[in-house]
Amino acid sequence: MKPADYKATLSFSNGSASVELPVYQGTIGPDVIDIRKLYAQTGMFTYDPGFLSTASCRSAITYIDGDKGELLYRGYPIEQLATQCDFMETCYLLLYGELPNAKDKQNFTRLVTMHTMVNEQMQFFLRGFMRSAHPMAVMTGLVGALSAFYHDSTDINNPKHREIAAIRLIAKLPTLVAMAYKYSVGQPYIYPRNDLSYAGNFLHMMFATPCEEYKVSPVLERAMDRIFILHADHEQNASTSTVRLCGSSGTNPFAAIAAGVACLWGPAHGGANEAALNMLYDLQKAGGVAKIGEFIKQVKDKNSNVKLMGFGHRVYKNYDPRAKLMQQTCNEVLDELGLHNDPLFALAKALEKIALEDDYFVSRKLYPNVDFYSGIVQRAIGIPVSLFTAVFALARTTGWIAQLDEMIGDAEYKIARPRQLFVGTPQRDVKPIAQR
Ligand code: CMC
Repeated sequence: MKPADYKATLSFSNGSASVELPVYQGTIGPDVIDIRKLYAQTGMFTYDPGFLSTASCRSAITYIDGDKGELLYRGYPIEQLATQCDFMETCYLLLYGELPNAKDKQNFTRLVTMHTMVNEQMQFFLRGFMRSAHPMAVMTGLVGALSAFYHDSTDINNPKHREIAAIRLIAKLPTLVAMAYKYSVGQPYIYPRNDLSYAGNFLHMMFATPCEEYKVSPVLERAMDRIFILHADHEQNASTSTVRLCGSSGTNPFAAIAAGVACLWGPAHGGANEAALNMLYDLQKAGGVAKIGEFIKQVKDKNSNVKLMGFGHRVYKNYDPRAKLMQQTCNEVLDELGLHNDPLFALAKALEKIALEDDYFVSRKLYPNVDFYSGIVQRAIGIPVSLFTAVFALARTTGWIAQLDEMIGDAEYKIARPRQLFVGTPQRDVKPIAQR
């Protein structure tokens, strides 16, 4: 770490001596107070459940300004990447730090394309699952199992292993997600095709059958590619922090990414796109647009525990920039498929309008997040609701790997081991069972 940019003084009201703490400035964003020596200096820990004020690492990958509604991958605004680059270029950027030139892009895309097949044995592993299993349960198992199938790239301290594991994960995730889907509907698996783009190949593996030719729609292919770009990384969110924490023990990259998949599943994180669509279905069943007022009343009632899924964000207190881009894609896809008047999509639009005008949401800076629209787009494309989070995991895999790699290359990284404020019973003696 560079020398401190300035110092902070921490003083105590109990007469303990004050301590000086180094403060560092990043290139942008809030400065950080370095508390690593705090325990040694004072015998105290800091307390920050949920990491509301804690930077868990230093990183040069993704930057979010939640108040401005700004998202940068390696310094590039998400709006420029989403409109001027494709997912392969975005992956390259996240992994290597710079956008590829034409030759680099061609080589990288070729490398990923050559790794899209999975070991044939994977099918038999998949067969052990119930066909009704949730795709995220299946994906947690399949991604974890990659370490058993590709044992020659599991040494996290070997840069070559890490690079091969990264390419394998990026290349094979679409194949695994599509296999999980085909298995759930009882259709034969469709092998990847090397003449298709990353997004086009995913759609092909999802929707083709051996019975007839499947033509990838360029509008849907672009929409899928945009979903991947927008979900590729999001700085130190819950699943990324899980991947870093898991990887900090020295476990292999496949295991660390499987931990990220498991964390992403939760409805407050990646599971929100599925929860948002299910919320729309429930509202539709209850009466649709006519019932929005009643539903919003429940959302505002603190005792109801009902949330407007797909709204609000821990970091964005302004419009999520990804949501704006996804909203454009949503309109393109609904146009392409002639679904603008579909009752479910009309309901989503009505809900969005009301929530954006309602003082409860406005005053709390609760805007639609990316998941609100990505769920609608995926549903329109024909992806089943239960698979949404698996698609998110597929896209986020690149970010997870880039962050894991960055951590391992950081000379200051240590096994992550948070401390606690203990509030349980102090030491006591076990009584004989008859006296308890
Ligand atoms: N519906 C209704 N009220 C909400 C919502 C919502 N979706 N989100 C936040 N609030 C209220 C919350 O009750 C609180 O009200 P009050 O100040 O009166 O107590 C206020 O807004 C501040 O919210 P918070 O819960 O302190 O904010 P947080 O940063 O802890 O939570 C969140 C962020 C994303 C977990 C939450 O907004 C939420 O549960 N949203 C719905 C789930 C969702 O869409 N998640 C996807 C996040 S984006 C994808 C990703 O990055 O994983």
